Amino acid sequence: MILENLRAQPLPEVEPGYSIRTYRPGDDDGLVVLWAEIVGGDEAAIRKQWLELRREDPNVRDEDVFFVRYGDHLVGTGTAWKRASEPPDTGYVHMIGVDGAHRGKRLGFLVTVAVLNRLAERGYKRALLNTDDHRLAALKLYLQMGFAPVIENEELRVRWSKVGHELRMKIPGLEDG
Ligand SMILES: CC(C)(COP(=O)(O)OP(=O)(O)OC[C@H]1O[C@@H](n2cnc3c(N)ncnc32)[C@H](O)[C@@H]1OP(=O)(O)O)[C@@H](O)C(=O)NCCC(=O)NCCS
Repeated sequence: MILENLRAQPLPEVEPGYSIRTYRPGDDDGLVVLWAEIVGGDEAAIRKQWLELRREDPNVRDEDVFFVRYGDHLVGTGTAWKRASEPPDTGYVHMIGVDGAHRGKRLGFLVTVAVLNRLAERGYKRALLNTDDHRLAALKLYLQMGFAPVIENEELRVRWSKVGHELRMKIPGLEDG
């Protein structure tokens, strides 16, 4: 999905007790546990992937990685990335997720706005992300935020039409919504 005309916007208010900050040394363990909870994945594989990204890609610096915290616990995350595969003016929204116990409080919105603001601050004009058809909460969030699908063929048109039907939302770029 793509968001054109990337512009900084105010961070939304969320319930008391939640706060947002960027990465600090020592956060890796917390990130791995949190991400494994969010995606139901294997911690060792997530750790390897995460550390590789941090070590090998200079386009993810500490100030590009965001955490939503509840007290001392990391309960949400998102990363402002720049992938070599995209055009120079296009930043990438990576690893947006909120702990299952803390969903439904607009924390995903909070962390996504923080990531988009960071991408805007880095000078990107557009933001791209990849997601999956079954991630309905994420798709709804991104559509609400102005992201539009990149519909390149008939198969994608059919899949997006199904998403629109399931979410009861109009999908930008589809004539029938
Ligand atoms: C996507 C995610 C970050 C959103 O977290 P959140 O801020 O807690 O968002 P909410 O739970 O408030 O849900 C956002 C919207 O989706 C809706 N929603 C939640 N679950 C849904 C579902 N199963 N089907 C349809 N809509 C759903 C909510 O009602 C809300 O819409 P609303 O504002 O109109 O009420 C969170 O669901 C998550 O971490 N999912 C797993 C990881 C993931 O898919 N990440 C995205 C990778 S691209």
